[in-house]
Amino acid sequence: MSMTLPATETVRWGIVGPGSIAHRFADQLLHSRTGRLTAVASRSAERARAFAGEYADAAIANATIADAATAGIRTYGSYAELFADPEVDAVYIATVHTEHVRNAIDAAHAGKHIVCEKPLAVNQAGVYAVIDAARAAGVYLAEGYMYRFHPQTATLVGLVRDGAIGELQHVDASFTYAAQLPAEHRLMNPALAGGGILDVGGYPVSAARLLAGAAVGEPFADPVSFAGRGTVGATGVDEWASASLAFRSGITVHVTCGTTVDIGSRIVLYGSAGRITVADPWLPSPTDGSRIGIARVGGADTSIEVAAAYQYALQADALAENMAAGQSPRMSWADSVGNARVLDQWRRAIGLHYPSE
Ligand SMILES: NC(=O)c1ccc[n+]([C@@H]2O[C@H](COP(=O)([O-])OP(=O)(O)OC[C@H]3O[C@@H](n4cnc5c(N)ncnc54)[C@H](OP(=O)(O)O)[C@@H]3O)[C@@H](O)[C@H]2O)c1
Repeated sequence: MSMTLPATETVRWGIVGPGSIAHRFADQLLHSRTGRLTAVASRSAERARAFAGEYADAAIANATIADAATAGIRTYGSYAELFADPEVDAVYIATVHTEHVRNAIDAAHAGKHIVCEKPLAVNQAGVYAVIDAARAAGVYLAEGYMYRFHPQTATLVGLVRDGAIGELQHVDASFTYAAQLPAEHRLMNPALAGGGILDVGGYPVSAARLLAGAAVGEPFADPVSFAGRGTVGATGVDEWASASLAFRSGITVHVTCGTTVDIGSRIVLYGSAGRITVADPWLPSPTDGSRIGIARVGGADTSIEVAAAYQYALQADALAENMAAGQSPRMSWADSVGNARVLDQWRRAIGLHYPSE
């Protein structure tokens, strides 16, 4: 069974799978109010040591006097060893998509609180399996949609709830980029559940569900209809895709994702009394403020400034604050289930099935 720490106590984090995003998490954990990096596990002890080496000085500098003696980052050549470490309270699972379910269930069985990178699982069945394990173990679990923890997202939700553009009618949301990657790269590889829908499609879908929910006073809403299209390339995974969603309230949504075509990454909300534009919804700068644009019908264009924030650090702090509840209202279990359902529908619509399923 897991322990429950008061939010004021330090949460000792272990990183599982020290790849690209694990660096960003570790960088921002230095700005967390509650967390510090305690351990790193890789399938290779050497990779774990190299990663820990990058953060060792900061770990010691950030240690309180009480924990200075143990401030060094422990390294493990297997994930199982980190899960067995009693001095790790929480884990950040940053492995490839196809490993998330196994890693998260192992972590839950070991009594660790969990932030698991998105997608929590390749499909909805996997999401249920992880949630069941977290519930049974009494641990915190959140899917790593970090933008949900940024104040920009909270501001946007507040604007919709307060009717800043009247009744929300339509949302257009996208996350795309053009990358030229080798066929074996995780993003291009069906064996690692590659493709844009699971890599970036989940962002616009989750934001649309969040905003459609905000419009009716709910934490999120699930669509009542869905139609998706997309292009599966020679890689065997989707390279770009779009979808139309409709909600019971009448709100319609268009979402786009892509890994080989850059058509922007933004959210535009259209309401009966105006339009809201978020130019950088997913990865606003952690050091410069961002702006949400508001154009009201018949009025002048205005914007709201949102203070800069380290969203991965806030995501870590949310674990400390919500350990007892097991989930954060910003990224709840039911929300992850609903998101996975839409991503399943999207892949089904374009005939994309992974070998691991
Ligand atoms: N929230 C965000 O902003 C964000 C951004 C980017 C990515 N992500 C998510 O984070 C996850 C990792 O993405 P990434 O870009 O960091 O990937 P990456 O650089 O390839 O790192 C993934 C790590 O997974 C581990 N791994 C475990 N089993 C593996 C396998 N069978 N094949 C390959 N690697 C395996 C590897 O670590 P060891 O072998 O050293 O153990 C590897 O370093 C993805 O699920 C992605 O969706 C989130």
